Parts: sequence; C-alpha cells; structure tokens
Amino acid sequence: MNSTTEDATHGIGAPMELPTMNSTTEDATEHGSMELPFHMRLKSVELSRMRELTGTQPMETAWEQCWQEGITPWDVQGVTPVVAQLLRANQLRDGKALVPGCGSGYDVVAMGSPTRSVIGLDISPTALHQAHQLAHNSPHAAQFVEFQNADFFSFSPPFKFDLVFDYTFFCAIDPSLRPRWAHKMADLLAVDGELITLMFPLDDHEGGPPFAVSMDAYEKVLSPCGFRLVSCNSEIPSLNNRTGLEKLGRWERAVPKLDDSEVTNGGL
Ligand SMILES: C[S@@+](CC[C@H](N)C(=O)[O-])C[C@H]1O[C@@H](n2cnc3c(N)ncnc32)[C@H](O)[C@@H]1O
Repeated sequence: MNSTTEDATHGIGAPMELPTMNSTTEDATEHGSMELPFHMRLKSVELSRMRELTGTQPMETAWEQCWQEGITPWDVQGVTPVVAQLLRANQLRDGKALVPGCGSGYDVVAMGSPTRSVIGLDISPTALHQAHQLAHNSPHAAQFVEFQNADFFSFSPPFKFDLVFDYTFFCAIDPSLRPRWAHKMADLLAVDGELITLMFPLDDHEGGPPFAVSMDAYEKVLSPCGFRLVSCNSEIPSLNNRTGLEKLGRWERAVPKLDDSEVTNGGL
C-alpha cells in the first residue's frame, strides 16, 4: 500500500482538492499493479501485524492499536476517487449522511456541504484525532461534519440517515458480523434512504482484514433487510493498487412491501 500513500496528494493540512479520474487511471497503469490480488499489494509486515491485532484483541483495542502503531495500510490520506467523482457530478444525496469506519475522515470532510451534514464514525480515538485535525484545516467543510467515537454496531442516533457510504468497513469486519452490519444499515437509514457500498476487495483471498468480498456477499445480507440494488458499476476511478477490485453498488432501502401471503391472510 506504500505506493498509494506516496501518490496521495492530500496530506493532512493540505487544502481539500478532489482528485481527478485521469490521475488515478494513469497511476494504475504506471505502477503495473493491476494483476496482483489486493492482499498481495500490501506490505506483508503491515498485513500480518494488522491481522495479529484484529485476530487476538477485542475490536476497539485492535483497531486503536493499529492506528497508534501507524499500521494503516488502507489509509490513502486523500478523498476516495469515486466520492470525488460523485461530488463533481452532483450525484450524492443531500440531507444527513453517515460514513461508518471513517478512519482519518477525508471522505467525510469532502462530503460535507451546506445541504449535506455528515457524521464520520470510528471506533478508534486516534483515527478521529486525525479526522478532527483534517476538519480543522478545512474550516468551510468543518461546519457540516461531525465525528463520533462509537462502535457502529451499537450506534443509535435519535434520527435516521438519508445516505450511508461504506468503503473498506464491510471488508474490515469479521464476515460473521455481516448480517448484523446489514441489519444496522437498515436500522440507521430512513425509508427510501440510500446505501452506497464501494465494494472492495473483490477477490477470493483467504483471511483478513481486509476480508475478500463479492457482490453475492453483499446481496445475501442486504436483500433480507429490504435493500434493493439500484445500480452496480465497475467503470469507476480507483486508486492505483485497487484497480479492477472495486465496484460501486447503490442500494435503496425500499419501503417494506406486503407479500401475497400477507395480503391474502388479511395483513395490512
Ligand atoms: C480498513 S479501515 C478503513 C478506514 C477508512 N474507511 C478508509 O478507507 O481510509 C476500517 C476502519 O473502521 C474502524 N472500525 C472497525 N470496527 C469498527 C466498528 N465496529 N465501529 C466503528 N468503526 C470501526 C477502524 O478503526 C478503521 O478506522
């Protein structure tokens, strides 16, 4: 993951600029990293330490320790190219938005606007310290963003969100937690709210984090919770070492509909 860190143009304190699609596509080709599965594109020492911590410690301790030790191979210190593209094209919903597992907060700060208030949630205080610094250096966006140190699975705000953006959170949690992840998404979103999943890494490696994901893995847990896939796009800008391993899924939390049996049984 070193190469992405080196390529990142958005260090903390730098003005928030949105990356262009061209630069990421060029980087991908230039680095010739497109053939390797994602886990092999990470520094193995970071990967094994991350897995050691997450495999042996409670969730909050493990992630906090990763942040404290600087074992953050996922952190590219910049806005996710797809988010930048959606923002430029004005294709992100307004209202209340949530970014679970937001890390150092670049997407949160980029998404904040006078018409969109964004909560960045993370279990690690150290991650959020970095996120606060970033927001502090982007005073305009800072008015519209808030960071909360909480466990996603017990997070229970007194309102519903219009939009949730999940990137590298689904792949960070143990796969046994995926049904709970989907239930929580349904619980947090308003009816007709949108869940955007930047699905990654779409490969079939063993172990994690990051755990391998697939379209089926998302569908399997989201469909029973009333989510409907509205669009799935693989023609998206990606960071150099993630090219070919990502798809953008846009899901709507549909109004629960009565099935035929409920209607014939006199259901409302
Ligand atoms: C792989 S990192 C991704 C961070 C960020 N989305 C990014 O792309 O840079 C996963 C993040 O989720 C956070 N996290 C893990 N489990 C969590 C939980 N149960 N609730 C909230 N945050 C959590 C970790 O602290 C970490 O910052």
